[in-house]
Amino acid sequence: MFPVKRRVFIIGLASLAAAAIAGFTILSSPNLLARKNEEVEGRREEAELTLFTEKSEEVGEIEVAGKRLKLPEPSYRSQVSIEEAILVRRSVREYADKPLTLKQLSQILWAAQGITEKRWGFRTAPSAGATYPLEVYVVVKNGGVEDLGPGIYHYLPRSHEIELVKPGDYSRDLTRAALGQEWVLEAAANLVINAVYDRTTRRYGERGYRYVYMEVGHVGQNVYLQCVSLGLACVVIGAFYDDDVKRIVGGVGEPLYIIPVGVKKEPWIG
Ligand SMILES: Cc1cc2nc3c(=O)[nH]c(=O)nc-3n(C[C@H](O)[C@H](O)[C@H](O)COP(=O)(O)O)c2cc1C
Repeated sequence: MFPVKRRVFIIGLASLAAAAIAGFTILSSPNLLARKNEEVEGRREEAELTLFTEKSEEVGEIEVAGKRLKLPEPSYRSQVSIEEAILVRRSVREYADKPLTLKQLSQILWAAQGITEKRWGFRTAPSAGATYPLEVYVVVKNGGVEDLGPGIYHYLPRSHEIELVKPGDYSRDLTRAALGQEWVLEAAANLVINAVYDRTTRRYGERGYRYVYMEVGHVGQNVYLQCVSLGLACVVIGAFYDDDVKRIVGGVGEPLYIIPVGVKKEPWIG
């Protein structure tokens, strides 16, 4: 595992920008491009080796997949105003060593993709043509959520349930797939938002991709603001190996965001 410290991450962001500029130069030369590809493949093989040698043993318990759990009803009132939540919201990468309650998880999932209009199935976040390309998964670590075993769960907005995809603690695997960003491991649970592009591109063609990217941003902000109101904290993560996250989570679609969520160490307000 290659943990990424917080300070290093900020420097990393700057390096990424430099690398992106360098990347354009490299990609314009065919020889350099071939060498670059070999280098990337080499690094991928290394990463995959690490992933699989230490992969958790619980994969064998998959037969209970499909089990569903009705989530507590979401609340529609809170002590925190929307303005306060917007004002104090921050990306937080350190969490208290406490589990989430099932009620908190329910509220977060509802904020991400809950149904708010039953007739047409409209949701908490807007969607181009109401095509709803996003699927939300939760990677729950051992002891991460009260009364919920470790595993990967799929959120079902219509029934406000979660369905077990596979049991087991995949938080280490997910951290590795997210370039060792240790806040993935420290969080009580990680949302993984996948996109099924075809639902939107079928109607809007190429332009549909841009709509899907916009939509996941709306979901991310909903989760951030809901976290503030619950005394929780989160950060959206876009830096990860797509294929690895996809393999760990299973389910449908391509991963766009990982969102670690944990209990905030200090209160947001006052
Ligand atoms: C598309 C996107 C990708 C991001 N990826 C990461 C990431 O991989 N790791 C991380 O720690 N933060 C990530 N962030 C969070 C940003 O670093 C953070 O929003 C920024 O530093 C501003 O801080 P604030 O959110 O507290 O205002 C990402 C944010 C966005 C919008």
